[in-house]
Amino acid sequence: MTGGTAPASGGEAAAQASRIAVWDAPIRLYHWAQLALVCGAYYTQWQMSPSADPTMRWHRWCGYGILVLLVFRLLWGFAGSATARFASFIPSPGAILRYAGQLARGRAPKFLGHNPFGALMVSALLLLLAAQALSGLFTADSNGIFGGPFGHFDMLEESPAWKAGLQRWHHRGANILLAFIAIHVLVNLFYQFVRRDRLVTAMVTGVKPAGDYADDVAGQSHVAARIPARALTLRAILCLAAALIVVFGGLFLGGGKL
Ligand code: HEM
Ligand code: HEM
Repeated sequence: MTGGTAPASGGEAAAQASRIAVWDAPIRLYHWAQLALVCGAYYTQWQMSPSADPTMRWHRWCGYGILVLLVFRLLWGFAGSATARFASFIPSPGAILRYAGQLARGRAPKFLGHNPFGALMVSALLLLLAAQALSGLFTADSNGIFGGPFGHFDMLEESPAWKAGLQRWHHRGANILLAFIAIHVLVNLFYQFVRRDRLVTAMVTGVKPAGDYADDVAGQSHVAARIPARALTLRAILCLAAALIVVFGGLFLGGGKL
């Protein structure tokens, strides 16, 4: 055995050339971990549910996990590869109107990263998730016995207005978030199976077929592939470590009990 990497055969090279790296591994891991934790948070919300979590411990830990992922995503929006960067997908009002017009005429182009509507939905999801997880920190259960690290636990005193407001949001926001998630999933399935623009496959494999993409400017499509895997992994580890420090350091400095 020589130990070297065998040169790609003609067929393999052709297959590689016909695919474009779109989503880096950290973004994909982030996305599917987030799905698991959000499902976990909804499943463990009922104190008397089959999940039998009367102390809401699992619910709180799903929430902390989501907070860590959100801070990671924020950092990755600056440190990640091209399609993950906020600068590459936050759309201008003009871009949104143009895309809406193209959609209405049935001539919407494909995008490598988020299309302008997708970018709006992604931003809304990130903001709603952040509001949900942050408000959870100030929420206590209806008996004031268990809850978030900064919940109101004095049974003899009314909860201060701002905490009561956050608690109300935690209950209402959960339904609004659920509605947005439902739309997000349905639209992605529509693109996947009806428009045959395989967005879901790309969020799993990280690649899309080579072709014409409206946002494929200045070789951007190859940036994901160009950042060497080692550098990408190191950046992801640093961002994750920073996210853990921000979340758990913040809870500790705020005097919160996990
Ligand atoms: C708890 C449920 C979910 C949440 C909170 C969620 C949230 C998100 C977020 C924040 C992004 C943006 C990724 C980024 O740039 O950081 C995204 C992208 C995406 N999600 Fe989800 N997601 C959920 C479930 C799903 C499911 C079940 C599917 C599969 C049907 C899915 C398919 C996708 C796809 C395909 C993209 C990329 C969209 C594009 O190409 O513009 N998501 N999701
Ligand atoms: C994105 C993350 C989160 C989601 C999706 C979520 C979702 C929910 C839902 C759906 C409920 C039930 C609301 C109702 O009964 O109407 C709930 C209740 C609750 N959540 Fe969260 N939550 C999240 C994060 C957190 C966090 C981080 C904490 C605290 C560390 C927390 C603490 C609580 C508490 C204490 C309750 C019980 C309130 C009561 O019994 O009145 N949640 N959450």
